[in-house]
Amino acid sequence: MPEKSCIYCDYAAGGPPRPEVFEAMRAHAFAHFANPGAHHPLAYLARHEMERLHSRAAAVLGVDPREVIFTSGGTESDVLALRGMLPYRPQNREGRDFDGIRSPARRDELVVSSIEHHAVLLCAEKLAREGFCVRYAGVNSLGMVDVDQLDLLINERTALVSVMFANNETGVIQPVNEVARRAHAKGAKFHCDAVQAFGKVELKPREIGCDLLSLSGGKFGGPKGTGLLYNEMTNRLDAQIVGGPQEWGYRAGTENLSGQAGLTLAMELAEAARTTAWPRVARIRDALEATLKARLGARVRINGEGAPRLPNISNVSFLGIEGQALGIELGEQGYCVGLGSACAPGETDPSHVLRAMGLSWEDAQGCIRFSFGPDITEAQGARLADLCVANYLKLAELA
Ligand SMILES: Cc1ncc(COP(=O)(O)O)c(C=O)c1O
Repeated sequence: MPEKSCIYCDYAAGGPPRPEVFEAMRAHAFAHFANPGAHHPLAYLARHEMERLHSRAAAVLGVDPREVIFTSGGTESDVLALRGMLPYRPQNREGRDFDGIRSPARRDELVVSSIEHHAVLLCAEKLAREGFCVRYAGVNSLGMVDVDQLDLLINERTALVSVMFANNETGVIQPVNEVARRAHAKGAKFHCDAVQAFGKVELKPREIGCDLLSLSGGKFGGPKGTGLLYNEMTNRLDAQIVGGPQEWGYRAGTENLSGQAGLTLAMELAEAARTTAWPRVARIRDALEATLKARLGARVRINGEGAPRLPNISNVSFLGIEGQALGIELGEQGYCVGLGSACAPGETDPSHVLRAMGLSWEDAQGCIRFSFGPDITEAQGARLADLCVANYLKLAELA
């Protein structure tokens, strides 16, 4: 299909870079190719530019430049946050290491929500296989983390609580301020995966009260393969990529200055457009949902409806059909939509997020994630709704 005729409704999986971002990257790639760690005039210029980029990214988040660690994206930021907060070997309840040596009790437990992105969940699973104690907090039927249940899982051994700002499949915004409060009340640190939320809602780490926060450039008009981890000044992390002293010693490797420039500019542009770009998109999303409910009634379920949500995501279960079949039809008709989570290519099991919300296996399977960009028009949204209804009726008849 010619690219132009495709109406892209899968922004939660990743959108195009903004043209200005691409230009800034090009300019940086040629102007600042020198290694900022070297000792000559071009390296000093590159180092100065690198420091400026940290300051600009920090200014957008309202934090100190030393609290910004540039990474290769959301996954690396999440993994650095989780693993970096568990620097020791796990202990058993008697305070003994696995080899039986007793040492002072330490914080080496992890609490995560059951609807985290796989970047967090699979890292947590791996830590559990290595012997760390990992506990999972459930969500209610709207897809919001149950803070009282979470509270019960946090104890004097908890090193880190990790709960996302907004879910990538449903767009449901989590009670992160309360999670921060509960974690800190018991002396644990709080990591927030804000990969989907940045640029769509106000997002300042100090206002959230988190100690660590992950971003991914490809989600808000920046280059893919770029991201950052905010790390509160007093928080000590165990570096996962070791070698050189880059990124305050937390992430070795020659800096990707051109990627950092693109990421930083994208952050500034996304933040500047935040309050104007999304209310219109939310209206188009709401109109789509209203049409589906009016015309299909109880045969559709809007997952997370009623909870605070990001303005651009709608997760719909089309009951009695396969979401994949509907997605293929829509693709042929010129709409690119997501099937649950695009971060799990080839996965056939229904979404862990929808299952955690209590959806049956079948209902979770008929699910489509629409995630709009700032360029979506009312007419495109209305036509999408019409196509969904017509395709659904056809597929349901065949089912
Ligand atoms: C909530 C969330 N966290 C982490 C990631 C991983 O980010 P990246 O693809 O930049 O590694 C994604 C990707 O979709 C995401 O949605």
